[in-house]
Amino acid sequence: MIGVNNKQNCDFKIVYVYEKPADSKNNNNEHIPAGIEKIFDCSYKSCFPYVNGIKDNAILYVGLGECSSFKLTKIKDIVAYSIKQLKKYKAKNVAIDLSLFLKEFGIYCIGEVVLGIRLGLYNFKGYTTSKEKTDYDVFLKGYSQEEEYIINVEKNLALNLSEGVILARNLVNTPANRLTPIIMAENIRKLGEDAGFQVEIFDEKYIVENGMDAFYTVGGSSGNPPRLIIARYFGDDESEDITALVGKGVTCDTGGYCLKPGSSMAGIKGDMAGAAAVIGTIYALAKNKVKANVVVVIPACENRVSRESFIPGDVINSMSGKTIEILNTDAEGRLILADAITYALQKEKAGKVIDIATLTGAVVNALGFNTAGVLTNNKEFYQEFKKGYKKSGEQYFQFPIYDEYRDMIKSDIADVKNVGKNYCGTITAGLFIEKFVEDTPWIHLDIAGTAWLETPLYEYQATGATGAGVTSMYHLFSERK
Ligand code: BES
Ligand code: ZN
Ligand code: ZN
Repeated sequence: MIGVNNKQNCDFKIVYVYEKPADSKNNNNEHIPAGIEKIFDCSYKSCFPYVNGIKDNAILYVGLGECSSFKLTKIKDIVAYSIKQLKKYKAKNVAIDLSLFLKEFGIYCIGEVVLGIRLGLYNFKGYTTSKEKTDYDVFLKGYSQEEEYIINVEKNLALNLSEGVILARNLVNTPANRLTPIIMAENIRKLGEDAGFQVEIFDEKYIVENGMDAFYTVGGSSGNPPRLIIARYFGDDESEDITALVGKGVTCDTGGYCLKPGSSMAGIKGDMAGAAAVIGTIYALAKNKVKANVVVVIPACENRVSRESFIPGDVINSMSGKTIEILNTDAEGRLILADAITYALQKEKAGKVIDIATLTGAVVNALGFNTAGVLTNNKEFYQEFKKGYKKSGEQYFQFPIYDEYRDMIKSDIADVKNVGKNYCGTITAGLFIEKFVEDTPWIHLDIAGTAWLETPLYEYQATGATGAGVTSMYHLFSERK
């Protein structure tokens, strides 16, 4: 529970303090009790528990480093850090003193504080039978009475956004045997009822009858059949514009006949992080009644090996009519996304498309685990997205598009082939998808590196799923004028 209450008495209060600059003439840091600065330097991510006499409640002083290098987007990290420190103590409820953040950043700090608390305390409940309680009640304090109303509003908006991120993390952390395409579809149907977005689920009959051959080629041979999951949220009645958010929903990617080596199989359950991201986004948009018209399209399927599975050398059709030569069955994401995008354009009349996917290992080689790869055919649209991701604090890097790269996926016997040579794999994967969006403004997000972490990079992350993409896509719409 997160409350807003200046008067709430708590076991612990967290107070944030800047480090004083090295050239400061003042020998004392006036924000911490006299004497402590000798042993506590207030550097970034340092902390000092303090009790002034047994009658007073404890204070945890948390260092922010130097004022000049502290930014709004660091709040989430430091709040998550400080709230986790309290796990060492037996506090049942905790107050966070907002006064310094409010003074520096105004009301914008509230969203970051709330995300820091919720995401910092997140851990995947999993399937263990022990019931350890890791949450505390947290109270926000240190504001003026006039600010209380708006702080509550901002807190509730941020709580819904946090739920979107947590939802995405939970979906990705769920193993493939407990999240088949059918189970995913049913989960999303329930989420729609809760958050107020409309859900439609198409089965394999629809997929086949509508010529979604590329999608069915990947997913049709598994004993767990594919589903095309559609979620619609129309929150802007002044506009006809519809943006499609298309998320790769491969609930397990064994590689198919181009079987993955055993060592790469640990992460195969996470190959639906794109789907999880678009669901987390539409959930938060609908809960917060953001002015936006969004259609989520998720091709959900498994990429398995069976008697009917596709093999390298096959030539398949697609909903768009374009033929595809298969050279690698592990490059399955682009196939299902191709049909999902054609569906979004033809059936949902989407005027803009964002696709998001754990698409290539190559993006991890290029950018590591902190930055996702981007391709786009439209500067203005990407500029809007950039505003969103700058607000969220996520990092993206745009790859170039040149004809030489397009040449790399030309096939002699079909309109396109599903892999290029062993170079610039993130670009050729994106350009495969470009063939199916044609002139529609389009942004392609490859989150193969950022969606899943063995070693968290920030305090608001946990081992496993990160919920990558949710906050950036959410803010694309929430920040629009
Ligand atoms: N889902 C994988 C990409 C991936 C790799 C996600 C590592 C997360 C971590 C995708 O379907 C895939 O296997 N891509 C191949 C493409 C290759 C065969 C051209 C890859 O990147 O190795
Ligand atoms: Zn694959
Ligand atoms: Zn995959």
